[in-house]
Amino acid sequence: MNVERHLYLVEKALSPQKIFKNVLNDIISPGNEIKPYYSSEKTAIFNDDCLELLSRMPENSIDMIFADPPYMLSNNGFTCQNGRMVSVNKGKWDKSNGFAEDTAFHDTWIGACRRVLKPEGTIWISGTYHSIYQCGYMLQKNNFHILNDIAWFKPNAAPNLSCRFFTASHETILWARKDKKAKHTFNYNEMKNGLFPEDKIKKEKTQMRSVWSIPTPKNSEKEFGKHPTQKPVDLLLRIIKASTNNEDIILDPFNGGGTTGVAVSLAGNRYYIGSEIDSNFCELTVKRLLQVEKDNEENLFSVGC
Ligand SMILES: C[S@@+](CC[C@H](N)C(=O)[O-])C[C@H]1O[C@@H](n2cnc3c(N)ncnc32)[C@H](O)[C@@H]1O
Repeated sequence: MNVERHLYLVEKALSPQKIFKNVLNDIISPGNEIKPYYSSEKTAIFNDDCLELLSRMPENSIDMIFADPPYMLSNNGFTCQNGRMVSVNKGKWDKSNGFAEDTAFHDTWIGACRRVLKPEGTIWISGTYHSIYQCGYMLQKNNFHILNDIAWFKPNAAPNLSCRFFTASHETILWARKDKKAKHTFNYNEMKNGLFPEDKIKKEKTQMRSVWSIPTPKNSEKEFGKHPTQKPVDLLLRIIKASTNNEDIILDPFNGGGTTGVAVSLAGNRYYIGSEIDSNFCELTVKRLLQVEKDNEENLFSVGC
């Protein structure tokens, strides 16, 4: 039995709460220079580089990873937003360092994610054509087994200004399993029979297909400010409901404005760890998380009445 497998079996005997605490302790303990930006009973947000965080985490400890890495598309071009021409530049974090360096970065973080995932764990990676093929290649290079490539169709995508090619209206989300032979979580019935009113393609009580129609984030999701590549909560809720169970630990190495954490909190009874290099986005995440907590408490109270 290899060491990785052995450690996993030892940890299997621990409660999810204990594993969550162990993961946080491992991140914090070497030298104490890393502390959560925010933490609660089931959530921890770190204002740090994900590579540093991942290197400190114990292997085989995470059930599911959702990663929305930089698209590397901030190349001084223009796009259309609310009928106005705006720069495509998202921020320094989104600048390409050239094909070789960008590809090496994807290789490094995907390899680091593989180490911390449980054998039956899965990873989702979202992106546009600027980055998703590199990520797909690196998933395969790192021995992941691809389960699906989801086309997230945005029915309200912005129009194309140049009128010289098709209007980009989808992103691709890859879903892959760490171990080809392990049994991963797929909540088939919930996907088939659940209600998805936002999706004009999904028919009631039919199998969930790999094209998902979900509008871009609602105004209510930008109440405390917005992230330039913010994902809709409905998208993350679907991913979490499809591929995790109660008590699972979910990691988002590129937390951004915290959509994954918000969706984890809405799904309930799961643990969340996020890392984000920009403290402004950590702050936005905390505001959104506290609002969900407040809403949950108010709902509980009104049910109690
Ligand atoms: C595509 S955005 C994620 C958006 C997020 N899914 C949301 O819905 O708000 C990528 C984020 O990763 C952050 N980032 C880039 N490199 C990082 C790194 N090495 N470690 C942690 N965060 C990083 C960027 O600051 C950016 O906020």
